[in-house]
Amino acid sequence: MAPTLTPQEIRDVNTRYHDVAADHYDAKWGIDFGELGRDQVTAKVRKALGHPPGRYARSLEIGSGTGYFTLNLLRAGLIEHATCSDISAGMLATLSANATALGLDVQSAQADAERLPFDDASFDLVLGHAVLHHIPDLAQAFAEFARVLAPGGTVLFAGEPSRYGDRLANVPKRAATAVAPLWRAAIRARPAPPADGGHSDASLEGVVDVHAFAPGELSGVARRAGFQDVRVIGEELLANWFGWTNRTLEATAEPTEIPWGWRQYAYRGYLLLQEVDRRLLESRLPAAVFYNLVLSGRKPSR
Ligand SMILES: C[S@@+](CC[C@H](N)C(=O)[O-])C[C@H]1O[C@@H](n2cnc3c(N)ncnc32)[C@H](O)[C@@H]1O
Repeated sequence: MAPTLTPQEIRDVNTRYHDVAADHYDAKWGIDFGELGRDQVTAKVRKALGHPPGRYARSLEIGSGTGYFTLNLLRAGLIEHATCSDISAGMLATLSANATALGLDVQSAQADAERLPFDDASFDLVLGHAVLHHIPDLAQAFAEFARVLAPGGTVLFAGEPSRYGDRLANVPKRAATAVAPLWRAAIRARPAPPADGGHSDASLEGVVDVHAFAPGELSGVARRAGFQDVRVIGEELLANWFGWTNRTLEATAEPTEIPWGWRQYAYRGYLLLQEVDRRLLESRLPAAVFYNLVLSGRKPSR
């Protein structure tokens, strides 16, 4: 079981973990800055808002990591002036390298989401992807998002784990662990080498994730910070089960011995099932059963 940490310890571990993860983060999570990444991110923004996005003059991303959301939104033309913040200097260094490689201009600031170093009302959009579940004091963070947003500004977060969806995802993970030896025999791969004595990413993974949300909890924290028109919806069910099954299997095998054909099957199958989720399931099933939650809201105009 993960040890109980103080809020400051959670922030410190998040910083260390993501500093170490920064170099191989894009490869590990298949982060794309081409057409695919642009389409994925634009679709998530549209889904969160419930209508086609407009253009935002000044955006601030919280926990921007290597730039998945902001760099793709800049390329899609949905934001004009982008600022990225993250608690990890390592992540921001990779983001700057990615921005330079793509010829994009982004301001960046190392900052904790609970204490943002920006003036009141300085942004039109505050956004993030897969970051809220790392933040110890969410009420304080949402108060900061409301403070730095201009009146009428938009708050938007995607990729947050849902509590029930997270539990459901344990089923394919356990099943994959059970059949992993058979799967490795079928693809003729040796078992993965042992982890590096406690300093690996995996050893901190259970510590950096501090929340999984019920949809009502997430909308409640946004409303209590003063946001209006708050929407929380779910995304990824079949895609997620498929993805976790494959990732769990792959983690047990020597990476260089996993066949290219398998990787193509896993990648393409995931994209296909994302479409099935989007077209058939997301509008029909309750948000709580999906693996990820997306949220949007609006700061009241004066
Ligand atoms: C799972 S990663 C997601 C990165 C990026 N948004 C993406 O989707 O690829 C979470 C990010 O949140 C950052 N983070 C964790 N705790 C934070 C905090 N308290 N304040 C700001 N950023 C934080 C981490 O350093 C990391 O870059």
